[in-house]
Amino acid sequence: MIFEQFSKIGVVPVLIPENFKEALNAAKILFENDLPCLEVVFDAPAAEESIKIIGREFPDILIGASRILTIEQADRAMNAGAKFIAASGLNPKIVQYCLDESVPVIPGALTPTELEQVLELGLKVVRFFPAELSGGLGMIKAMAEAYSELEFMPVGGINAKNLSGYLSYQKVIACAGSWLIDKKLMAAEEWEKISALVKEAASIVKNIRS
Ligand code: 3PG
Repeated sequence: MIFEQFSKIGVVPVLIPENFKEALNAAKILFENDLPCLEVVFDAPAAEESIKIIGREFPDILIGASRILTIEQADRAMNAGAKFIAASGLNPKIVQYCLDESVPVIPGALTPTELEQVLELGLKVVRFFPAELSGGLGMIKAMAEAYSELEFMPVGGINAKNLSGYLSYQKVIACAGSWLIDKKLMAAEEWEKISALVKEAASIVKNIRS
């Protein structure tokens, strides 16, 4: 079950690839450092190609597509090999499409109204975006108390400093974020620095989740 994998891995690195070579380097670093998971933002220049190539070269990496805005994009991402679909917001048509295709979907939801819609659609995991700007862990705790069936994947402003706080809360299934495979570091080919960020996150997860 994909959500059990998220819970075990703890962190879902967000990748914004300019080209597939960057994506492959990033995937290799993740795979070698115990974070075999990533989501590719679908509005990035090399998103579709990167999903295809990572899926082929690293079949054991749990790869998904995020920032999905239309059914057409969801379809393209699935055809490229995305094993899950994530969105910043809640579009019931996209959610239903993914459910019909039996592809795990994590829509964005922040407010009680949106969270209730998520429950009505039969889902149990939401993307809480933008987490830090929307009240962070305190807000997630308040919502989790009111909606005990839900689990949360915070994204937006997560980093090595606040990661352990989020992961220590049992209703947080995993955190997603772009701080690990930093876009500027990739452009500067600072792979050592990226490896260090990935190792740091993997060690935080290990301390809390094992
Ligand atoms: C996303 O679309 O996944 C978010 O913009 C990532 O948020 P972050 O850059 O603050 O991690």
